[in-house]
Amino acid sequence: MTAELDTNAQKMVANGKGILAADESTATIKKRFDAIGVESTEANRRDYRELLFRSTEAMQNYISGVILYDETLRQKASDGTPLVALIEQAGALPGIKVDAGAKPLPFCPGETITEGLDGLAGRLKEYRDLGARFAKWRAVIDIAAGIPSRGAIEANAQALARYAALCQEAGIVPIVEPEVLMDGDHSIDRCYAVTEFVLKETFHQLYHQRVRLEGMVLKPNMVVPGKKATVQASVEEVALKTVRVLKNCVPAAVPGIAFLSGGQSDEEATAHLDAMVKLGGLPWALTYSYGRALQAAPQKAWSGKVENVAAAQAAFTHRAEMNSLAAQGLWSPEQEARKAA
Ligand code: 13P
Repeated sequence: MTAELDTNAQKMVANGKGILAADESTATIKKRFDAIGVESTEANRRDYRELLFRSTEAMQNYISGVILYDETLRQKASDGTPLVALIEQAGALPGIKVDAGAKPLPFCPGETITEGLDGLAGRLKEYRDLGARFAKWRAVIDIAAGIPSRGAIEANAQALARYAALCQEAGIVPIVEPEVLMDGDHSIDRCYAVTEFVLKETFHQLYHQRVRLEGMVLKPNMVVPGKKATVQASVEEVALKTVRVLKNCVPAAVPGIAFLSGGQSDEEATAHLDAMVKLGGLPWALTYSYGRALQAAPQKAWSGKVENVAAAQAAFTHRAEMNSLAAQGLWSPEQEARKAA
């Protein structure tokens, strides 16, 4: 079992490949569909995700795994093939979001605790039978006046560690995602300090829950200023500070780090990853586990119309290829312009 966990964790961060986060909850995908004027029906959600998973070039070359929502893990493509089988046929691993969302934390205004531990062992067993080989749990840490509190960070880190241990026991690689949000007007250095605290606490709790670091993938935020901060940061500063905090907090036994995009623009998310990989000398693989930064372009191109499927697949393939180049430190703005043309 441990050998399989380690192998799958390594596959998820294989050179030049990264993860497609397509695990939007029903509420979140509705928001995305609202933005492109598409009704969020089960059939439309299926059609959209089928379009992504049938993007053969992208899936075979640039995507190591896909994070799914419960509904998608059970859905069939229009020709009756399970969507999970489409992912497997492309050589990628199916994964599943297993947390039940971030809920208000008592006595901590503005802070949340991610729920979903109750009954998780049983659900993981079923998910593995349905084909899932990895899972995701997202803890959310917001930065604002007076928050985050130590209590919120500890509670979220402990839940992440409990989840990760349950996953490994079920033969499923846990993606451990402690996301420090980029909402707000805080500086990049405040993001650094909070991210450092959160990562230190997360690995402390992972140790106490006996999680095997070789059989997990970390999905962190990058170190960036808040979106509303008056002073923004250069690509180089983001890369240097993110790598520095990771080197200070993430043991070398972790095979790979797959970033979330967190509301960065498509190209920023790509440029930041590329700059970090170019720094070199890192003990872990760095790659992407992007949701919005991989899907914004194909969603817009698709807009719910059958005649746009090919254009949407081309947009997805382009973004996936740019991120694949970035994960190898081979991306440049010129590449971006040339390939998009
Ligand atoms: P974004 O890349 O859109 O932040 O989504 C990744 C994800 O899975 C968040 O949990």
